[in-house]
Amino acid sequence: MTCHLLIPAAGSGKRMGADRNKLLLSLLGKPILQWTLEAAIASKAIAWIGVMGQPHDYSEFQKIFKLLNTTKPICLIQGGVTRQASVFNGLQSLPSECDRVLIHDGARCLATPELFDRCDLSLQMMQGFIAAVPVKDTIKVVNGLTIVDTPNRDHLWAAQTPQGFQADLLKNAHLKAVELGWEVTDDAALFEKIGLPVQIVIGEETNLKITTQQDLAIAEFILRQRHTYY
Ligand code: C5P
Repeated sequence: MTCHLLIPAAGSGKRMGADRNKLLLSLLGKPILQWTLEAAIASKAIAWIGVMGQPHDYSEFQKIFKLLNTTKPICLIQGGVTRQASVFNGLQSLPSECDRVLIHDGARCLATPELFDRCDLSLQMMQGFIAAVPVKDTIKVVNGLTIVDTPNRDHLWAAQTPQGFQADLLKNAHLKAVELGWEVTDDAALFEKIGLPVQIVIGEETNLKITTQQDLAIAEFILRQRHTYY
């Protein structure tokens, strides 16, 4: 167990239409963040977990941490204004012995422990990866409401998290982003901008990101199909 995990959890519930952090909303009786943490705790690969949150959520987060039956260290780290800023802060808080880091959105609460384990195994052989699945839809590039391109679907994958990187390379990439004012929506995009290779690890079709009320209903359905809750 040598892998460190950072969980960005410092967002809001805006797109969900909630008046608070969506990760605190209940899914089958447990906060979304608790499901994410339980999967990470059940992963054999993960030795340490850092959770980035906004200070107004700290007391709720700490209540969740207390409910977890684990000896793995879980650290609360102050999040930033954007996801990118939250990950930046997380990277500064990694223990010095960390050489491989996984980043996993708190909102992807259906990722399985096996996915984390598979991701870490792959990361031992590469500089960076993202979990992803091939897209099923035909994707259109649109300007206004007019289609301008239809990319070949064979080359399109939908990005998920976990994403994982050699920690020193990701720290340098984030420092460069601050220096040059790059704004990105995932960490792999920073590697791409620098020209570092990022591989694909096959993700999970059920590893959806909870964004809307419909996602919450779908997540509930998927969890009910699983034989055991971790
Ligand atoms: O909003 P969205 O679901 O795309 O955010 C992805 C993840 O990034 C979520 O788990 C959210 O809590 C986190 N986030 C963050 N800091 C922010 C904004 C989002 O950690 N400032």
